[in-house]
Amino acid sequence: MEEKVIEEGRQGEALELINASKSGRKMYIESYGCQMNFSDSEIVASILTDEGFSTTPNIEEADVVFVNTCSIREKAEQTVRNRLKVYNAIKKKQNPRMVVGVLGCMAERLKEKFLEEEKLVDIVVGPDAYRDLPNLIGDVDIGRKAVNVILSKEETYAEISPVRLGGNGITAFVSIMRGCDNMCSFCVVPFTRGRERSRDPESIVKECQQLVADGYKEVTLLGQNVDSYLWSGGGLKKDFKKLSPEEQAKSVNFAQLLDVVAQVSPELRIRFSTSHPKDMTDDVLHIMAKHENICNYIHLPVQSGNSRILELMNRGYTREWYIDRVDAIKRIIPDCGISMDIISGFCTETEKEHQDTLSLMEYVKYDFGFMFNYSERPNTQAQRKLNDDIPDIVKKRRLKEIIDLQMQHSHFRNQEHVGKVHKILVEGVSKKSDQELFGRNTQNTVVVFPREKFEAGQYINVEVYECTSATLKGKAIGLA
Ligand code: SAH
Ligand code: SF4
Ligand code: F3S
Repeated sequence: MEEKVIEEGRQGEALELINASKSGRKMYIESYGCQMNFSDSEIVASILTDEGFSTTPNIEEADVVFVNTCSIREKAEQTVRNRLKVYNAIKKKQNPRMVVGVLGCMAERLKEKFLEEEKLVDIVVGPDAYRDLPNLIGDVDIGRKAVNVILSKEETYAEISPVRLGGNGITAFVSIMRGCDNMCSFCVVPFTRGRERSRDPESIVKECQQLVADGYKEVTLLGQNVDSYLWSGGGLKKDFKKLSPEEQAKSVNFAQLLDVVAQVSPELRIRFSTSHPKDMTDDVLHIMAKHENICNYIHLPVQSGNSRILELMNRGYTREWYIDRVDAIKRIIPDCGISMDIISGFCTETEKEHQDTLSLMEYVKYDFGFMFNYSERPNTQAQRKLNDDIPDIVKKRRLKEIIDLQMQHSHFRNQEHVGKVHKILVEGVSKKSDQELFGRNTQNTVVVFPREKFEAGQYINVEVYECTSATLKGKAIGLA
């Protein structure tokens, strides 16, 4: 993605075609949803490559077509249903032998029901059952439909080397944990991804070392709540205070993990997502400040600026707590970029409470954000206990106010970067002109500049002279 735009949809609406042949058979994978889904598709590709499959960017020639799905909002599910219609047409006209597998969160949420609702679908596999894919494809080969949606307390795919799909060879995702135990009342993820598990830090470091050996320059450590990462000889989340003194001494938390990953190579930039305001410690911030190669950027979803709504959302923090965390970031890492997620029109939200969200935004002046209308999800606490009572028109108007304000703030933040020199990791050629390159500064803002003699994968110092609300423009002044 070249430009970081303020958009209404991030997780759920993003579409990327991934090229993803059992001994000569070919698979095609399309992924929707969050970065973790894109990362999981690389695990799936790895598991099936080991079985002799190869990947293809052409759906028409694929033996197996996978769609890795998202359930976060209704719109995300609708996008997948629409894609299934397209696959159906392709199957009928161009590729009658095509097998269709549904992976990911929608598979987990709908389970066998998927086979009843969508006749085209042959395989339904949840996020913790990808190792079973070769067997499930075997079932389909003998004429059966196949389902595995068992969630696990241990699975982290720790030792599987992902097959890097559709990437640039420069930036990669590294999954450090799976699942979520937070139970935010609006959120479907704890149901689709299961219990929170942390991955063995040794396997994380090994994966990063391999990426460096393969020429990668940036990793993004992924988890739904990276701040609650805890390895204590096993991955299932435990309360640190309940560990024995020996277990405590041997355990690894997120700050400690960051500290070791940062030492893999000074040439490797580290990013991570998502931070949770209730769990983000000053220790993490100090480790960020200590290592030049940990990017000064934190995605800190707030959801709402009003404490009553936050309580109803079961987020585990108040407005004041959130502000204290933002103050800590600014104190410890003064030039840190901060982004957010906000939900507009959550159950019972009053106009005044909406104003509290706007005033919190004014306080923080986020670099950018991902903003959504509340979408009621089946079986969540909010769906069972609260009324989705804010009319669509009101949700939309409030969302527009939030987006408009964020545009101003993004512009304000970008303006602050003008006239300064930024260290950029070049990710590739700009979409708009092959005479320009693009990369990101430490705060994750996209910077575009004339190509000259520079190339992807280099660290360059760029002097920024102009900006829009989404992009910085500059001129390279040399290698960084
Ligand atoms: N684990 C991350 C967020 C994961 S989901 C966190 O806790 O911050 C990404 C974003 O989707 C959320 O931050 C939230 O803003 C949005 N989202 C989740 N469920 C939603 C729903 N039911 N309706 C609208 N937006 C939702
Ligand atoms: Fe969902 Fe909350 Fe977990 Fe984020 S922390 S994935 S919003 S339950
Ligand atoms: Fe969507 Fe599942 Fe991610 S619901 S946001 S793909 S964890």
